[in-house]
Amino acid sequence: MNETILILDFGSQYTQVIARRIRESRVYSEIVPFHTPAAEIRRRAPRGLILSGGPASVHDPDAPMPDPEIFQLGLPVLGICYGLQAMAHLLGGQVEHSAKREYGKGTLEVTARDCPLFQGVSRRSQVWNSHGDRIARLPEGFRPVAATENSDYAAIEHAGRKLYGLQFHPEVAHTPQGRKILGNFVHKICGCGRRWTMRRFIDQAVESIREQVGSERVILGLSGGVDSSVAAALIHRAIGDQLTCIFVNNGLLRAREAETVQEVFGRHFHIRLIYQNATRDFLAALKGVTDPERKRKIIGRKFIEVFEAGTRKAGPARFLAQGTLYPDVIESVPIGGNPAALIKSHHNVGGLPKRMKFELLEPLRCLFKDEVRQVGLELGLPGEIVWRQPFPGPGLAVRIVGEVTKRRLDILRQADAIVLEEMKATGWYRRIWQSFAVLLPVRSVGVMGDERTYDYTVAVRAVESQDGMTADWVRLPHELLERLASRIINEVKGVNRCVFDITSKPPGTIEWE
Ligand code: XMP
Repeated sequence: MNETILILDFGSQYTQVIARRIRESRVYSEIVPFHTPAAEIRRRAPRGLILSGGPASVHDPDAPMPDPEIFQLGLPVLGICYGLQAMAHLLGGQVEHSAKREYGKGTLEVTARDCPLFQGVSRRSQVWNSHGDRIARLPEGFRPVAATENSDYAAIEHAGRKLYGLQFHPEVAHTPQGRKILGNFVHKICGCGRRWTMRRFIDQAVESIREQVGSERVILGLSGGVDSSVAAALIHRAIGDQLTCIFVNNGLLRAREAETVQEVFGRHFHIRLIYQNATRDFLAALKGVTDPERKRKIIGRKFIEVFEAGTRKAGPARFLAQGTLYPDVIESVPIGGNPAALIKSHHNVGGLPKRMKFELLEPLRCLFKDEVRQVGLELGLPGEIVWRQPFPGPGLAVRIVGEVTKRRLDILRQADAIVLEEMKATGWYRRIWQSFAVLLPVRSVGVMGDERTYDYTVAVRAVESQDGMTADWVRLPHELLERLASRIINEVKGVNRCVFDITSKPPGTIEWE
């Protein structure tokens, strides 16, 4: 059984960051809705609780409040920002509504050096604030343990009951000693060890996969992306040949993708792999289609058809394995804030048709992306797969504006390979969310040598993002942009112009469609 810290989510945009920080301290953490009953929390037997921040004010008529009984469970509690205010409010303190939000950097001064939260933390350090309300009077039994320019109660403590509160956000990068503070909470105050490691995760996952699957067979749709690849390697370690992977080549893949998957999984891991080459089928189905939504629908439908044919080749199986990750299963709470945050990716196909009856096997359900990569490395997957950027299911079809043809795919594939190569060579590839080429089949005039050309345009896109929901374009160095443009125009026949996309999301999307 893992030692667990439960994080009650009050709707902060940083709740997942808190969970990741705790796990980086090698302690397992999970996010639950703020209204989770105390009895349910007791049943789950965590070692401590964290109350996240959130957009509400405790004075709102419908302010989200935790079950007051959670403070009677004898568990250490750390309230962060709104979480601190909710705790202070429920325990009889006074929270003052302030019209002016305190937002931005502040200097924290630790006033109680004996407070375990601040062991090893400098007396003065930078912290990040983002709150409206503030504490005007402490609840009984609490004392202030740190202050900022604007607040005597930047951190508070009830040592006897192990209740703590921080007015600032320890989880964000702008609070450089925040990790240390969170680490102190889980290790020194909650008494957790450092047991959450990916090696241990693998051992536990192998055991529970074996238990769940028994002697049955498992099918997995391998896309070559990080999640399905790691799921395949993990399940293979657990049950070997009871696993069959199906890889569909839809002809919309990047250069060498199909080969890499076959090399790594077939030849290196010796995983039973069914390779469905449906390149021609997809292209034929896409002929003449220019509408982006129709393209997507056709590709989705075709995929199911080809995948189903693959499952027939694989033979009967009881389980379908998927690389679902933790951010997809966290129950989100709609609180005043940003409803966009609740809209799950519209891209993920609604699943397989009902006639294909499987039980789901989702061994990565509790992991964040960075943990999945770590698991992949531990399992011996090559960096080429583990560090891959996200790649859309409909592949290059959403990177060609207008009709998808073989010639256009060939052109885009070459341009895209140059982008990847240069991004990798300069170290930018791993630092950002996505970088790729887009083909605009609009022709314009150019000159090459003595000749006039009339060719396509390639747009280079490079974006920074946490989850794909919002994104900003990356300020790539001019030298790199220059090299990309000159290589693409010189090496890719059919292209005579290269532009760099400087649209953020919103209002743009990441893909062009
Ligand atoms: P957009 O273009 O909507 O993309 O800003 C957001 C993120 O989702 C990826 N994407 C997809 N992923 N199937 C996927 O698995 C899809 O159909 C799909 N379409 C877009 C996109 O690459 C970006 O990371």
